[in-house]
Amino acid sequence: MAERGDREAFVTLATNDTYALGCLVLGNSLRQRAQTTRKLVVMITPGVTQPMRNQLARVFDMIYDVNLLDSRDAANLQLLGRPDLSVTFTKLHCWRLTMFDKAVFLDADTLVLQNVDELFDREELSAAPDAGWPDCFNSGVFVFRPSEETYDSLLKFAMSQGSFDGGDQGLLNMYFRDWATKDIARHLPFIYNVVSQAFYSYLPAFTQFKDSVKIVHFIGATKPWHHPYNTATKEVTPLPETGHNKDYLQIWWDIFMSFVQPTLDPSLGGLIGELASLSLQTGATFGGSQSHLSEQERKLNWERGQVDYLGADKFENIKEKLDKSMKGPATSSKTYTSNPFSTSIPVSTTSTAKKPVAPKK
Ligand code: UDP
Ligand code: GLC
Ligand code: MN
Repeated sequence: MAERGDREAFVTLATNDTYALGCLVLGNSLRQRAQTTRKLVVMITPGVTQPMRNQLARVFDMIYDVNLLDSRDAANLQLLGRPDLSVTFTKLHCWRLTMFDKAVFLDADTLVLQNVDELFDREELSAAPDAGWPDCFNSGVFVFRPSEETYDSLLKFAMSQGSFDGGDQGLLNMYFRDWATKDIARHLPFIYNVVSQAFYSYLPAFTQFKDSVKIVHFIGATKPWHHPYNTATKEVTPLPETGHNKDYLQIWWDIFMSFVQPTLDPSLGGLIGELASLSLQTGATFGGSQSHLSEQERKLNWERGQVDYLGADKFENIKEKLDKSMKGPATSSKTYTSNPFSTSIPVSTTSTAKKPVAPKK
């Protein structure tokens, strides 16, 4: 009979090269830092390029090709503030990995700080509470049993019921709807899925329990790889208002620079190509903008007080926009914009700008 370590796996997902970068760091955190004895699987769609596939093959035991499942539920995703998450239905493919008896799904934006192999002693569906609504579980980390039957039934459920957040989390919480009440053994402790902003919402608890944190989750549109990193000081700079904890961002970057960056293929395009060409000698600072966000996401972020000060919302751009709208055709009631996305906020002598608040999502 095969060893238990061969019949159990950690599974993650990437539908493009950027999220695949997260998978590479996650995979290395599981192997190098957490020293797992279980298999590592990454599910990818055709949106991941061949050179990135080669990179993933260095870390993962199995690359599982899947097709993109898309909820196309713009309305609910708008409520969630993340129009990009319709493709997270693709996660459902993990139930098809029936070569494994049990598995743990981990989002590509999670980081494993300590060994978590004990998760395989839990039953389907085990997950930790969502920090935003603790009667729901967060679907960035969950224990499940692969089964074609469950997969079919989930797809049927998705087609008939949809998802209340437009992504997999809304769907899975409806499907496994007794999670909140039925069996406390299916509630994973929060330490298995700590949002990296947790120190912001409950600092005393964070201070008390931070050494027991096992998995960190960088939820929200701005991920560790979007942050500026200085190659001379080897330090990451947290972006204002994303709320990510600096120590966790630093661990992500330390793993990235030690195990992923040196092997990255410079022929990879965009952000990954830029990262591959980082040279430690130059002392250059990488990145640091939220230019990855769509106009709609940036608008939502702006409204929440999450402003891309270093990128599209930098002072020069705002000034240019203001200058343009002031030079524009005269209208009877003059309007200025405190939000560069909008052209209809009436001018006011008292500032209407909202005070930035800690992001929850
Ligand atoms: N994902 C992906 N491509 C996308 C969006 C999401 O592969 O364009 C996968 C990836 O594994 C990611 C997960 O779906 O970690 C959930 O999305 P995300 O982590 O961005 O959601 P959040 O945790 O911020 O709500
Ligand atoms: C959640 C989860 C993520 C999921 C998304 C969409 O907050 O963190 O894993 O894909 O929302 O449902
Ligand atoms: Mn996530």
